[in-house]
Amino acid sequence: MLTSLQVNIFSPGILSGRVALITGSGSGIGLTTALRFAQFGARLILVGRRAEPLAETRRLIEKAGGEALDVAADVRDYDGVVAAVKAGIERWGQLDVLINNAAGNFIKPTADLSPNGWRTIIDIDLNGTFHGCKAAYPYLKTSAFGGRIISIITDKARTGWPGCAHAAAAKAGIISLTRSLAQEWGPDAIRTNTVAPGPIGGTEGAHRLYKTSGRADRELATIPLGRFGEADDVAAACIFLASDAGAFINGAGLVIDGGRAWHTASTSESAT
Ligand code: COA
Repeated sequence: MLTSLQVNIFSPGILSGRVALITGSGSGIGLTTALRFAQFGARLILVGRRAEPLAETRRLIEKAGGEALDVAADVRDYDGVVAAVKAGIERWGQLDVLINNAAGNFIKPTADLSPNGWRTIIDIDLNGTFHGCKAAYPYLKTSAFGGRIISIITDKARTGWPGCAHAAAAKAGIISLTRSLAQEWGPDAIRTNTVAPGPIGGTEGAHRLYKTSGRADRELATIPLGRFGEADDVAAACIFLASDAGAFINGAGLVIDGGRAWHTASTSESAT
């Protein structure tokens, strides 16, 4: 099956001239989105906890003729995120797009979840997103294209997520943050939006959440389109929002889940 990007519906230079910082770009959705942003003309600032996967993303981008800088930083560490943004500004001189993609999650019913487990996920997902927004803001507001903030969440933030209440709560916080920033920073021409993927096959996170827990078939049955999403499905949404096509979209949420949000069993225990 061809994804939208494989049939190249975007013009090659749709992101030309833009610089995008993507957190969690060493693997999964972040990695694919970084490769696609480079393919469509953006220069990248790759940020993540582990240096080696980031360096590999950079090498892949360079091999394909693109340009990227990799900076290891944990999104939980505000000073580290600020340093990563500054390194990017030193290299590229501008920042136009921030994609808050780094996330942590694990399946743990709330009765068994420790306060430290709760704090850890809130810290990565919600605080990490705030850190990215706050560090990027001074540069996004001077973007010649109009700054873009895209935060990757899950529709389980809306429905609740039995077994992953910690992640659902963190992502729900990001929805609220997004709506606040859309109003606070809209006058600075910054568009702030969320993208909510359903289950994405093929990523390390998906493998851990469904395959090893034996949930894959049950998950699939909840997706009207009858397949798992692909990282490219999410990358396409990010390209759209980051491009001129997304110029009047602010404070919105784009759900990329094959229709799962409306499946009658969507609030049953499952994982994204
Ligand atoms: N299952 C259950 N509890 C877990 C857990 C897991 N897989 N991972 C972490 N925790 C709990 C720990 O038990 C700990 O609580 P405790 O001190 O009460 O025992 C708390 O969370 C912090 O764990 P720790 O390992 O110190 O955190 P960390 O900062 O090193 O790593 C993650 C936390 C989430 C980043 C780590 O689990 C991870 O790397 N996950 C894979 C990446 C990921 O989640 N991607 C998202 C895919 S959707």
